[in-house]
Amino acid sequence: METNFRFIQLADPQFGQFAHLSGMSDHQIMTYKRSNLKVDKESKYYHLENETRLFSKAISIANELEVSFVVICGDMVNTPGNREQIHAVKTIAKQLKANIPVFWVPGNHDVGADTEVPTIESLIEYRKEFGEDYFSFTHNGYKFLVINSVVLAHPELVIEECLDQMKFIEVEMNEAKDKNIPTVVFTHHPLFLDNANEGSMEPEWAPSPPGKAGYWTIPNPTRSDLIDLFERGNVQAVFAGHWHRNNYARNGKMEMITSGPVGYPLGEDPSGYRIVKINNNQISHSYHKLNQ
Ligand SMILES: [Fe+2]
Repeated sequence: METNFRFIQLADPQFGQFAHLSGMSDHQIMTYKRSNLKVDKESKYYHLENETRLFSKAISIANELEVSFVVICGDMVNTPGNREQIHAVKTIAKQLKANIPVFWVPGNHDVGADTEVPTIESLIEYRKEFGEDYFSFTHNGYKFLVINSVVLAHPELVIEECLDQMKFIEVEMNEAKDKNIPTVVFTHHPLFLDNANEGSMEPEWAPSPPGKAGYWTIPNPTRSDLIDLFERGNVQAVFAGHWHRNNYARNGKMEMITSGPVGYPLGEDPSGYRIVKINNNQISHSYHKLNQ
């Protein structure tokens, strides 16, 4: 099938993070810096004005460009289950034109009960607010697979959920293979940042926070299981967030794209959005700054 369409990928609008990371002491900022995380010295914010302005701008750009859909790769909010933050992000997303669907992808700040490890209760709460946490949809001959990487990276309290999701991914990838459908995956955690074989120590330019080895990616052996399934299912590209900076890597035919945040940047890349074009089965994409 001839394909020609575009969509916008967003990540980490993370309502509440500007307030959380402002007003920090020099000592606290140094702690972040040790993990290569850039936190600015700012006086204290108490509200959601930065997130509101940035996310509203991203939504208005999606409307202007009349994209096919918008996908938000997790961390919609900073505090799991926070009513005010959830209400703010959902209210702004409703400003999308009626013919532009939005697809939510769960992040660790959305479904991690403690911002890291999901529980059955935190998954139920998430589903009430944002719908299914893993699913697929098709558009113009492409399959798009949304996964809940938080459960895959931290299955310890939700083993059955993890097994069910892996089974679902396998069925989806078998279908893509049988019907020869090209596939794109949306996830919060990147599969890897440098290469598919990187270990739990990760690339030295992307250290995990102290005591949280494997924080930024889906660790092995789950990573390699996913990569095997994605190879079977003709996955051309995986789009992620979580790292709050842009990063590009590859494994064979599969591109691994990690996008900067709509919200608080933790490196040199600005708050932004990614336009993805799919033309004649070729994927191209570009990251754009959100003017503040
Ligand atoms: Fe985040």
